[in-house]
Amino acid sequence: GDPRVKRIASAIRVVPDFPKPGILFQDITTLLLDHKAFQDSIDIFVERFKDKNITVVAGIEARGFIFGPPIALAIGAKFVPMRKPRKLPGEVIFEEYVLEYGTDRIEMHVGAVEAGDRALVVDDLIATGGTLCAAIRLLERAGAAVIECACIIEIPELKGREKLGGKPLCIIVETE
Ligand code: PRP
Ligand code: MG
Repeated sequence: GDPRVKRIASAIRVVPDFPKPGILFQDITTLLLDHKAFQDSIDIFVERFKDKNITVVAGIEARGFIFGPPIALAIGAKFVPMRKPRKLPGEVIFEEYVLEYGTDRIEMHVGAVEAGDRALVVDDLIATGGTLCAAIRLLERAGAAVIECACIIEIPELKGREKLGGKPLCIIVETE
């Protein structure tokens, strides 16, 4: 496999019982402290997506805002934030979803994504897949083609990938 993956995996801190008992939290802030591992994680996605004619990288608040913009800049795509409710000042469209802990909604500005855009959705982690699935629905409602999703971490036992309706998902690290 890719020798960069081990370093990335070991830079992610695992915190038991956060934010609630029973949740094994995957903390990517420690990955950001290792600039080589952080750079490698961006490079892996850029290598994969640079020749796919992606026109928009959609990042999901909050942690998708860390990994999305450097990928967008490197592949020459616009960046669109998919935000938590009531943060965007313009007209929005939104989708609701169920989280591993609670429910939430993401919003996107009308006009940020247009018919014919080719989208890559970026987040730090896929757990149940509810968040990514809502992001895909939102982008498709706006007329974009969602080409692929990219997350640093997948929790395979939660089977989030099955919610994506066959949409390709690129991940770097699987939890055990
Ligand atoms: C976490 C994580 C993903 C999402 C994954 O975000 O960053 O966005 O949950 O869960 P799912 O696959 O079960 O939908 P969270 O909403 O906790 O907030 P944050 O990114 O704003 O910290
Ligand atoms: Mg998140």
